[in-house]
Amino acid sequence: MTAQTQKRILLVIGGGIAAYKVLELIRRAQERGIEITPVMTAAAKHFVTPLSVASLARTKVHDALFALTDEAEMGHIELSRSADLVVVAPATADLLAKMAQGIANDLASTLLLATDKKILVAPAMNVRMWLHPATMRNVETLRHDGVLFVGPEDGDMACGEYGPGRMSEPLAILAAIESALATETFLPLPSATAALAGKTVVITSGPTHEPIDPVRYLANRSSGKQGHALAKAAAAAGARVTLISGPVTLADPAGVTTHHVETARQMLAETEAALPADIFIAAAAVADWRADEEAHQKIKKGAGEAPVLHFVENPDILATIAQRTTARPSLVLGFAAETENLLANAQEKLRCKGADLIVANDVGKDGVMGKDETTVTIITAASTETWADLSKDEVARRLIARLAGELDGRTR
Ligand code: CTP
Repeated sequence: MTAQTQKRILLVIGGGIAAYKVLELIRRAQERGIEITPVMTAAAKHFVTPLSVASLARTKVHDALFALTDEAEMGHIELSRSADLVVVAPATADLLAKMAQGIANDLASTLLLATDKKILVAPAMNVRMWLHPATMRNVETLRHDGVLFVGPEDGDMACGEYGPGRMSEPLAILAAIESALATETFLPLPSATAALAGKTVVITSGPTHEPIDPVRYLANRSSGKQGHALAKAAAAAGARVTLISGPVTLADPAGVTTHHVETARQMLAETEAALPADIFIAAAAVADWRADEEAHQKIKKGAGEAPVLHFVENPDILATIAQRTTARPSLVLGFAAETENLLANAQEKLRCKGADLIVANDVGKDGVMGKDETTVTIITAASTETWADLSKDEVARRLIARLAGELDGRTR
């Protein structure tokens, strides 16, 4: 590994019995050519000695906020930014609470507040401390801030209890480190909040209903949660948002202009009417087919003959907008709902529909549709990146940040 490609980790060691596992983590990381800069809290030194950590890491341990020699060599701000990734292991309840609140009262917490890098935490604590509403609130806040988590695992703990709270094993932490280093997960900074100020965003969401007769229709299981979350996130980022929603049970998002439609053709017409826009997001699960003729009266059971439906294909809204020769939005994002060959099918959709980004999700997996948590893979012509086990709100926030970044890059 050359000096340029060698990855560097700032490893913050918290004060918990699991700190002993960090020695193994350091050794394993070194074997993979990852350079470690260790930082210890005062409590951590009760569990492992700075000498052991320094010997394995082959570098000095940083532990004081106001150490004159350290500040002269490398100030704490520089230290917080010099790594590719910040890892906190064990992440104690105290460290998580400080991070969630933005408290900076020692070197470790100050680095965690000052860093502009991704942070991966490996929590370790007693099961009741982990399950305490205060810790759960802090975890939720940190996830929302883009902090990555590995563990904790269920198991017997040093304190004699059983349950979630045990720190993940060094190899599992290492795998999470390598995955975090390999992906460009977005870590939001405060300046991202108005990233879409002055921009217009058009989003389709929910299912479409394709009528068969006055009382029956074809539909699908889409809840509209992801599309509506995107509309909220785009509005929160300062954009002027038009949401074109199929029939859903969700409330119209505040601060968003929402048009309600039933069919794919109505959705296309409203989308085209909402242009021009800077960004178009096709999050709706549009019915691919409709009955070629809608019966004007309710179809009766008749004399035992089952009715036969003839289908015609609906317009593809994403492809229509992405392939426009006039008023094509600068960025067009589509979704790919797949039950097999996820990446290959999604890449094919990116190419043949003409989108700039495709968000692929495996809808075959325990009913993603309608659920709050999801795993998505972001595909562009140049890259593929997976975001695992995130709430749809978090996916929305990261996607909007990513699109804002892309738009910014294009208009520069
Ligand atoms: N889409 C659309 N109009 C359609 C069908 C799909 O705008 N008539 C959009 C969806 O909003 C999504 C993307 O195209 O962004 C892919 O949708 P998906 O249902 O995964 O794929 P289909 O194009 O319908 O293809 P298939 O059903 O064969 O997988």
